[in-house]
Parts: sequence; C-alpha cells; structure tokens
Amino acid sequence: MLTTLLALIVGLVPASPAAQANEWRLETADLSRMSAGWGKALANASIQEKGLSVAGKTFERGVGTHASSTLRLDLHGSATRFRAWIGVDDEVGSRGSVVFRVSADGKRLYDSGVMHGGEPARQVDVDLRGCRILTLSALPGEDGIDFDHADWCDAVIAHTGSAPAPVEPPKEPFVRLTPPTSRLPRVNWPRLFGVRPGSPVLFTVPVSGDRPMRFRAQGLPPGVTIDAATGSFRGSISAEGEWPVRVTARNRWGACTRTVTLRCGETLALTPPMGWSTWYMAYTNISDAFVRRQAEAMRTSGLADHGYSYINIDDGWNIRLGSDDPVLGGAPRDGLGNLRPNALFPDMRGLCDAIHAQGLKAGIYISPGPSTCAGFEGSWRREAADAKQFADWGFDFLKYDWCSYGNVAGGSDRVHMVRPYQLMGDLLRLQKRDMVYNLCQYGMGDVQRWGTQVGGNFWRTTGDLGAASDLWESTAACGFGQAGKEAFAGPGGWNDPDNILLGRILWRGALAPTPLTPNEQYTYMSLWSSLAAPLVLSGDLTQMDDFTLGLLCNDEVIAVNQDVLGIQGKPVLRSEETEVWAKPLAGGDLAVGLFNRGDAATRMSAPWKALGISGQWKVRDLWRQRGLGIREDQFGATVPRHGVVFVRLSRV
Ligand code: GLA
Repeated sequence: MLTTLLALIVGLVPASPAAQANEWRLETADLSRMSAGWGKALANASIQEKGLSVAGKTFERGVGTHASSTLRLDLHGSATRFRAWIGVDDEVGSRGSVVFRVSADGKRLYDSGVMHGGEPARQVDVDLRGCRILTLSALPGEDGIDFDHADWCDAVIAHTGSAPAPVEPPKEPFVRLTPPTSRLPRVNWPRLFGVRPGSPVLFTVPVSGDRPMRFRAQGLPPGVTIDAATGSFRGSISAEGEWPVRVTARNRWGACTRTVTLRCGETLALTPPMGWSTWYMAYTNISDAFVRRQAEAMRTSGLADHGYSYINIDDGWNIRLGSDDPVLGGAPRDGLGNLRPNALFPDMRGLCDAIHAQGLKAGIYISPGPSTCAGFEGSWRREAADAKQFADWGFDFLKYDWCSYGNVAGGSDRVHMVRPYQLMGDLLRLQKRDMVYNLCQYGMGDVQRWGTQVGGNFWRTTGDLGAASDLWESTAACGFGQAGKEAFAGPGGWNDPDNILLGRILWRGALAPTPLTPNEQYTYMSLWSSLAAPLVLSGDLTQMDDFTLGLLCNDEVIAVNQDVLGIQGKPVLRSEETEVWAKPLAGGDLAVGLFNRGDAATRMSAPWKALGISGQWKVRDLWRQRGLGIREDQFGATVPRHGVVFVRLSRV
C-alpha cells in the first residue's frame, strides 16, 4: 500500500486509466458560438488574423477574440482543470484593457482584473471538478471596447469523459411585460412639439384606444386647427410662443384630456424623434410601394398611437452612379440640375402627401459627398438645389451621411468635418418647412460637441449596429458606450447610437426576427429610453407580433425617453458586468435601470447614495406598469442575464 502510494507520488506507476485526463483545446471549439464585440473570434490567430502574441511571447495555439466576448461550454460534469495564458494581443501596442473572467454555473472561478496592452501574459489554472457550464468572458476593462483584443492562449481543458462543447444560453420565453393597450382613449407621448414660425404645423396627437375617436382642443394658437377625426394639428403659427393646448379624445368607452404643448420657436426635435427607417429591414431594396405599405402599417399596427411618426427613406431612392440597370441607373440629375429619383420612386411629392395623409412625417437621405454609402448620387456641390428639392417634395427630415465626402473634404481635421454639415444645416433653415436634421458620420471629430452648432437635431455617435457580427455585443457596446456624452444632449439635439433593430429585420441576408433574446430586447429599449436617444425603428411594421408591439409601445417606458427635460441618463454605478443608470425626469422623478451585462442572473441594487437621493421613494416597475411599494435607502432586484429591471422612483 505504502509503496504504491509512494510510486504514484514519484510518478513511477501511472494513475488508473479511468481517472486519466484527456486534453481538449479551446481552438478546436466551434468559434461561431463565441461572441465578440468586434470582428470574429479566430483559432490560432488574433482577432486581426495575426499570430497570437502577448508582451512579446508568442503562442502557436489558442483563440483571439475581442471584448466583450463570451463562450459557454458544456463540461458534461467531467472536466477537471482549465489552464490558459491570457493577455491583450500585441497588435494593439499599449492600448486596450481587458478583464478575463472564468465562471462556472454562475460562480466566478478566476478574475484577472484589468490587463493592459503590453502586460505579460498571465496563467490561469482553475479546478473544474463538479462544474457543469463553464463561461469564458473577456470584458472591456476601461473606456469601452476600443482596442480590447483579447487572447486565450494555450487554453486547455482536462477532462475524463465527453469533450467540452459550446452551448447556447438557456432559451428564454417571449413574455410580453407591457399590459395590453386599453380600449379607452389615452393621450400618450410626445406631448410637446416644436415648430418654426410660418412653417406648416404637422403633428398628430398620439392617442391609443379604440377608433372611431373624436378630438377637441382648447387653447390652440391662432392659425392652427385640430382635425376632429384624426387628432392632427394643421396650419401654421406666425409668432414665437408657447401654447399649452388641452386636448380631449373621446370614444365609445370614455374620454381622456391632457395638455399637449405647441412651442413655436427656432428649435425642432424638442424631444427625441420617434419613427422608422427603411435601412435595416431592406437596405437599398426599397420602392414607393414599399414605403407606403410601411407608413400605412405604422398607423394600423397602433405604433403611431404611441408616438412613432417619422417614415424615413434611407439610401437607395435615387440614381445609382454608373449603373446600367434600367430601374436604378440613368442620369442622376435633370437638365436643371435637380435630383432624379430612380424608377421605383416615380412620384416623390405624391409619396410625401400619402405619408402626411396618415398623420405621419416623411424623411429622406443623402450624402454631402459625390455619392452615398451605397453608391447613389450625393449632394456634393448641389447642396442648395437639393435642400430646396427636399422641401418642395414635402420632406420633414433629412439624414445626411458622410460616406464618400472624405474623398473631397480636402482635410481630415474638425474644420473639414464640420463644413459640409454646417452648409446643409444653413440651407435647411432657409426652407419654408421644418426639416429635422440627422447628422450621420459615425461620431467622428466628437460630433456631439458641434452637432447643435451646425443645426443638427441628432447625430450618430457610433458605427452601424447592424454591421456587427454579434448584435448583442454591438448594441451593448454602443449603448452603454454613450456614457460621458450626456452633457451634449438635450432638447433640440440628441446623441444617436443608431436605430432600434427589433422586430423582423434583415439579419445575415434574410428578413428574420432580431437575433436578440427577450431580455436583450428589453435592455435595448430601456437603455435607449434612458439615453434619450431617438427611437427610430427598423423592423417590418407590417409584421409585428404581440411581444414586439409590447416592447415598442410601452407608454411608461416611452415617457422616460420623451421626458421634456431631455436629460440623457448616465451610469451611477458600474462594474464590468453590471450598470445602474439614472435619468432625472420632469417633476423630480428618476428613471433607474439596473442592467446586467453578465452571462448569469445576478442580484443588483441601486443605493440611494449612488443616486444622490435620500428618504422614502415610491418604486414603479415601468415594463409591468406596476407599483412595487415604498423603499428607503435602496432598491434591489434580481436581474436576468443580459436583462434589465427598469423602474421609476417618485418621492413620497
Ligand atoms: C451608412 C449609415 C447607415 C446607412 C447606410 C446607407 O452605413 O451609417 O445608417 O444610412 O450608410 O448606405
């Protein structure tokens, strides 16, 4: 007995075959299951397809990924150890900061703390006996995900049974949290609308409830009437001023009266614009008929009753440069130099009229460069004619997308970045109708610092969410990454982390339900509401299931987004995986989001101290529209994986 033991210790006798461990290597996994905040995780290469290298030490084998990145592995209960070398890949130099984390069954087994570029690789060596699901995470350390190239080198799992295998997270049920829309009339948001003196007033009071409905208004400004059947304000206001209008909506079940304010002045988009864009459901595959169908569905689906009002045509409506396609090609301008729509848009004015007839507003798109991103005619050197053309057609919104402008800018400093946006902004102001101005240049040159100066009403602060390989990682990185830009947002000018990719969107080439889980979808809407970000939908409005309608039409969540103070919420507590956000609301309330970016449900709390409040506060669950009682000192909740608990606090 003693000799056997001794022999085992000194390694003379091999352990019994049953207990002998096999080695499974991470790079052999199906890496399409590993999420990445940018690019795609690769075997035996960094995220940029170079050799794996950390502080000069190179590794033949391993996996290169990009924060935030997660892989879940089923260990079948037979794994014994995980070993790896971790670090930020040398391809980013001293930039980048990553936290490597190893968890199993919701318990943390290893945490690297923040590792920076240039730091030597560290060895992870953890016991996995008894573990079922292993999660490997590479999380952004500091300042968002930029340059967070994360390497798992020589990563090996020792096991005695079946090899570890990537697994999907548990399926979540699609539970609609939003209570059903009442049949009674209810005046929803926005309840504040800005118009310039002399411009046509175009605002339909968003009211849910059964139709037919009758509308009455008291206190209208001179020159403005309300359509008794539709609730649309029409007319114009000649002088600056503010009119709190008492609007009553009545149907067979009852009536609702609320104050809706018309503010006549130079500022448009007093609350974040709400609407829809063609881009993520059709890309350039668009036509007059398609846009009309979507506009009609905006109304029939009920979305318009909850405040969505812009129908925006994105890239692809005019002439594709150099194309000999009889439908899309041709001369990009007529003899007078005016823009020509392509054959699929035979009557732009008629299309705008049809959108207006639905009580909605129409948006158009072009680039300040010679061509748009998809290669259609741009506005370069024709800006004045184009601004006038858009106004003449009847558009109420312009998205102005940098695209090819870089080739003609003549410089890459801020002056050159601002110039084309200033030019078009000035031209839009000269038109006799109001056009909300959406700058799109992906956040270059700190656009949030000068967006308002050039007349912009909102500006993209990020790249294209839909271009990412992992929609959850990209929405989380871009959405939570808005922290720090809050000082630049407010009535008339908003930060825009891109459209709402919910409902049926074009994803990997096919029109399909968004790849996000139900909790990720609740996070998306809660976060965009906390951010006071424009709510520009991008899914198919003609095919809205009940879950998606509940998600997009929760009036208490929308009220946070549309709050008249227009304050962009910000994080008050942050760790790598959890964030507590707060947004001050009119009347002294606070919207508070408990967000869990981690891979397992977790207990979270929003202490009053972090929120800067004290005493007793009423807590209301915004998604369920239900009071949760009174709290002192803090509000705590268990927050699901990638999910949110979104509440409104009101002082008792
Ligand atoms: C860019 C923009 C998108 C979209 C396309 C159109 O990528 O960021 O939002 O407008 O161009 O080509």
